[in-house]
Amino acid sequence: MSTKPSQEVVAIVVAAGSGVRLGREIPKAAIEIAGVPMVVRAVRAMLNGGADRAIVVAPEAWVEVFTSFFTGKAERVKVIAGGVMRQDSVRLGLDQVGDAPITLVHDAARPLVPPFVVDRVIESVRDGAPAVVPVVPQVDSLRRVRRNSTVAVDRSTFLRVQTPQGFDTAALRQAHAAAGDKEFTDDATMCEAIDIPVTTVPGDGLALKVTEPMDLVLAEVIARGEA
Ligand code: CTP
Ligand code: MG
Repeated sequence: MSTKPSQEVVAIVVAAGSGVRLGREIPKAAIEIAGVPMVVRAVRAMLNGGADRAIVVAPEAWVEVFTSFFTGKAERVKVIAGGVMRQDSVRLGLDQVGDAPITLVHDAARPLVPPFVVDRVIESVRDGAPAVVPVVPQVDSLRRVRRNSTVAVDRSTFLRVQTPQGFDTAALRQAHAAAGDKEFTDDATMCEAIDIPVTTVPGDGLALKVTEPMDLVLAEVIARGEA
């Protein structure tokens, strides 16, 4: 049961990466999917899924352009400059969260995440989980790499982690303070490093991360409603 539905939820949408693996001229988050920049789709998903406001963390040289994407939305969307590593960008976003008790951290690179996944994550934090990740099953068979060989592993013991990840804001701040310069792949991992338990909720295939050129083709087809 949700205890305090009025608790403010702020979504940090990290969009400051350059998208090296995609290999385009413009930053990945500015690339349009069916006519709408990825970062705009990501922010819409957060707000439609229950976030009260969003902090967009943009590449430093693109703050003005990204701000122009949200003209007329200044009350609910703030654009700031990001940092070198993803976690630097999250930390800069966290500085703008203020007193909101619940923080979401979402990759702009997951523009098609359905609002119901966002809602699930928020509900789980409201129900008392300090750190929440949406997960999907691993569909491919997996092999562990050894020194001179590989060995099959049971794929059912692995889950793929998506975003938005949801946090009790105080717990997330504590995790970032403890992390220092040590690099972490995501914020839940950072929480786990200081023994904050991580809860899972079902994610969705639509929350796929646009990383390589083929992902962009897939996202475009999905967004056009052809799949
Ligand atoms: N990100 C960020 N700040 C950084 C690095 C990454 O805000 N210094 C964001 C990206 O914009 C992206 C998310 O973190 O939304 C996940 O990162 P990833 O998919 O790796 O994006 P890029 O780092 O942009 O891509 P690449 O690694 O291919 O360069
Ligand atoms: Mg990256």
